[in-house]
Amino acid sequence: MSALVVENLTVTFGRFRALDALSLAVDPGEIRAVIGPNGAGKTTLLDVISGITKPVSGRVLIGDGIDLTTRSEAEIAKAGIRRKFQKPSVFPALTIRENLEIGCGTGLSATERPARIAEILAETGLAPREHAQAGALAHGEKQWLEIGMVLASNPRIILLDEPVAGLSDSETERTAALIRSLRRLDRAILVIEHDMAFVEAIADRVTVLHEGRTLFEGSLHGARADSRVIEVFLGR
Ligand SMILES: Nc1ncnc2c1ncn2[C@@H]1O[C@H](COP(=O)(O)OP(=O)(O)OP(=O)(O)O)[C@@H](O)[C@H]1O
Ligand SMILES: [Mg+2]
Repeated sequence: MSALVVENLTVTFGRFRALDALSLAVDPGEIRAVIGPNGAGKTTLLDVISGITKPVSGRVLIGDGIDLTTRSEAEIAKAGIRRKFQKPSVFPALTIRENLEIGCGTGLSATERPARIAEILAETGLAPREHAQAGALAHGEKQWLEIGMVLASNPRIILLDEPVAGLSDSETERTAALIRSLRRLDRAILVIEHDMAFVEAIADRVTVLHEGRTLFEGSLHGARADSRVIEVFLGR
């Protein structure tokens, strides 16, 4: 059974089709990269999965057949789906620890929270910086903090939009290691990214989107050898 299923999803903005009968299935334990040229519909896909945008047709289902399509953003988050947006959105005046406390939300009791925060600080490598103010962090540290906030609620589906945009090579490598370490059999991870070395480091399979449709699905190696993918995306 798939962890996440997108069925025949169509999203329109006026007369423009941002997603055009798009279908996609992500396995439990899988890290899937969604790649493709600017405007292909990648962020729109995450917007639909997280309930921000409603499709004109099609469905989004998770593992046990739960249909998310008609649910609110809050209900979708409660069902265990968490997202990191393209632009970092940490609370700059608060410390790393305080940001993570907010990330834990109301799902954890006051006695459970410190242990969970300690785990996340260790997982993200941010433990030595826990009292640093988020606004003063390096770009990479901010991204890791955001990933930490996503992790706080122990989500079963993680959606990451361009997690290494603007990062240095060493920050990118560390982010790849972090994302690989998040892999669990009861979790699926969907990552949008333009950096192909990073995609190669993390993804089991790639979905190449073009004009709201799937142009290719399979290994990155296969995508690189596909003449249509080269023509519209990788060859540029
Ligand atoms: N709210 C909106 N209203 C109108 N058009 C929109 C809206 N959101 C997205 N679009 C259009 O839909 C298309 C797909 O946008 P989307 O942001 O999903 O692309 P993307 O693949 O994430 O691109 P990028 O790589 O640049 O982030 C684009 O042409 C965009 O201009
Ligand atoms: Mg985008």
